[in-house]
Amino acid sequence: MGIMFDAQQRIFHLQGRDISYLLTILPNEQLGQIYFGQKIRHYDQLATGLRWATRGYLACVFEGDLAFSLEYTPQEYPAYGKTDFRHPAYQVQNAAGHTISDLRYVSHAILPGKPRLAGLPATYVEQDDEAATLEITLRDAVSGLTAVLSYTVYAERNVITRSARFENGGAQDVRLLRALSMCLDLPDADFEMMQLSGAWARERHLYTRPLTPGIQAIESTRGASSAHQNPFIALKRPHTTETHGEVYGFSLVYSGNFLAEVEVNHDHQTRVMLGINPFDFSWLLTPGETFQTPEVVLVYSNQGLEGMSQTYHDLYRRRLARGVWRDRERPILLNNWEATFFDFNEEKILTLARAAKDLGIELVVLDDGWFGHRDDDRSSLGDWVTHPEKLPRGLKFLAQEIEAFGLRFGLWFEPEMISKDSALYRDHPEWLLQVPEYDLSHGRNQFVLDFTRPEAREAIYQMVAAILADAPISYVKWDMNRNMTEIGSLALPPERQKETAHRYMLGVYAVMERLTQAFPEVLFESCAGGGGRFDPGLLYYMPQAWASDDTDAIERLKIQAGTSLVYPVSAMGAHVSAVPNHQVGRFTPLMTRANVAFFGAFGYELDITQLPAAERAAIQAQTAYYQAHRQTFQFGTFYRLSSPFEQNHTCWLTVAADEREAILVYVKTLAAPNAPFRAIRLRGLLPAAAYVVEETGQVFYGDDLMYRGFPLPAETGQDGDFTSSRWTFQRRAES
Ligand code: DGJ
Repeated sequence: MGIMFDAQQRIFHLQGRDISYLLTILPNEQLGQIYFGQKIRHYDQLATGLRWATRGYLACVFEGDLAFSLEYTPQEYPAYGKTDFRHPAYQVQNAAGHTISDLRYVSHAILPGKPRLAGLPATYVEQDDEAATLEITLRDAVSGLTAVLSYTVYAERNVITRSARFENGGAQDVRLLRALSMCLDLPDADFEMMQLSGAWARERHLYTRPLTPGIQAIESTRGASSAHQNPFIALKRPHTTETHGEVYGFSLVYSGNFLAEVEVNHDHQTRVMLGINPFDFSWLLTPGETFQTPEVVLVYSNQGLEGMSQTYHDLYRRRLARGVWRDRERPILLNNWEATFFDFNEEKILTLARAAKDLGIELVVLDDGWFGHRDDDRSSLGDWVTHPEKLPRGLKFLAQEIEAFGLRFGLWFEPEMISKDSALYRDHPEWLLQVPEYDLSHGRNQFVLDFTRPEAREAIYQMVAAILADAPISYVKWDMNRNMTEIGSLALPPERQKETAHRYMLGVYAVMERLTQAFPEVLFESCAGGGGRFDPGLLYYMPQAWASDDTDAIERLKIQAGTSLVYPVSAMGAHVSAVPNHQVGRFTPLMTRANVAFFGAFGYELDITQLPAAERAAIQAQTAYYQAHRQTFQFGTFYRLSSPFEQNHTCWLTVAADEREAILVYVKTLAAPNAPFRAIRLRGLLPAAAYVVEETGQVFYGDDLMYRGFPLPAETGQDGDFTSSRWTFQRRAES
């Protein structure tokens, strides 16, 4: 592994565990892309490399040369206006108003480890020998702008991370009009593009489409990565399956407006670019100022989608998430939201907590409505002080009482938002994101706080920190319940208004960083009206995120399966809720609700005091089971054995990191008469080991389970819809 530079051929070769990434300095001193894929040992530019040839209608770089053109040259960070007619990776307006630039190679450095990105979330290393980083400095001679392209390759992973850092080294202002994080030009277009799209309550459904000439893209302009498009795409070969074939993954470590764009040109070459959405974005760089783009994590797998997903899971769980909770088993929680909504008081919460203790739950979370005078969604955001009527003896008292039951206590905040009916708004109407003279739109009756303003961030930090310091609070849910409109800041000058959305994100990251560092023992969970900001950026600060406001087990199959394309099980908040389900009105068996939620940071979200005795007993059994096996659920290797997007049943498997146990869950969607007998092939077991099925006492060998398959229950036709089963395979001690 490592990074090699062949000075004679001017080629960089980055080698990860099974991958190679090759780039070169082109004849015009820009950077050319040679290869990204399965590891190769040796590359010879003269024998097999980039080629140029005269063609009709070609714009060429050098006078007298009719062959060298960027139009069909694969590049690393293409410019606008220099013979390439595809979208560029960046665009700069110089002091004269021109938008042409030409970043040329100046120097490079190869560093051990991976430097952090200033002010932005990013993957990291714990030891310098885990990774190596290549930094290539490019310079535009006219404006004096430099760009440093960063590439990190991990020794034991099939991952390349990329980002770019600009610095105005000239004497005059320049304006970045577009500053994407990366570009990858692939030599053909025989791919299908996969994306995770949806909406509130149906986040991250998987969509796949073949590439065609032209641009295909997903983006967010909502001020958040969004429930509608996740900042991730994959390009897979048409015949790639879950376990076989090539796929490239591209995941942007960012939580704001983004663009993920794929352009297929007339030569059927494919250009992939990701980064901050250039729409309504620009960034002024005065002399000496710098701009850092977010990071993109590129994964290559020739073992199908599973290889890609497992690479992301391990990286994001161990080298993106941080803090003491990164590797700790997450507590089973009870959230009062779907149990009470806004209608609660101290007694009700304490009653829920007592019942929770009895059921084996470990953490009680008080959701929206505990502050200001908030009895519905029209008031009090921004006033992070206890609601005196609902909690007359205060939060501290409530938290201490709950701790006295032997439980932990957690609390909900929505720090980025403000209600007009709040003391904060009365004191600081100028702290809302707004565009002067235009009416303000609202979402859920609330407005967005201007997190570009240090004084607004400071005020919110102080209020939240005071509560966390005062009461024994072990968990925080950081919510965000609307997208942005009228994106403008009264604190920024006219020439910087288009910086607002990104400055806002930097402000959010800064508060999250400060808060999580100040309260390192608190488990933080992010949330945005469900999974409206379920992205790698937030996982850097908070190791789990509420996956969706849709808690229906059948809906969750698609949401969690889609999410699992990139994100680990430990990151997905998943709760058992009441039936009929609040979002879809569906009745599902309690067992199915638990079996699906087990594949996540598990909890309950219903009025457990109203349940019949049989259901309370079932929940006691569920919590006991989860406690015994949560290490395997949360930190095992996750396998999608069948897909809810394609089939009437879903099978998920998790195999413990120490390979001592594996858990299989099978969920049937609709009942069918005369259903065929089915077996499902497990994966990731030790072929020669014997496994005892905890639930039935049967013994199987790993090879039998993986190659012949595990027999699924025969359907009687009378079982009804939405049933599920679970089996726990314990490896025999001697095997
Ligand atoms: C949206 C979240 O996703 C819910 O879980 C809940 O916290 C509500 N907000 C509260 O307003």
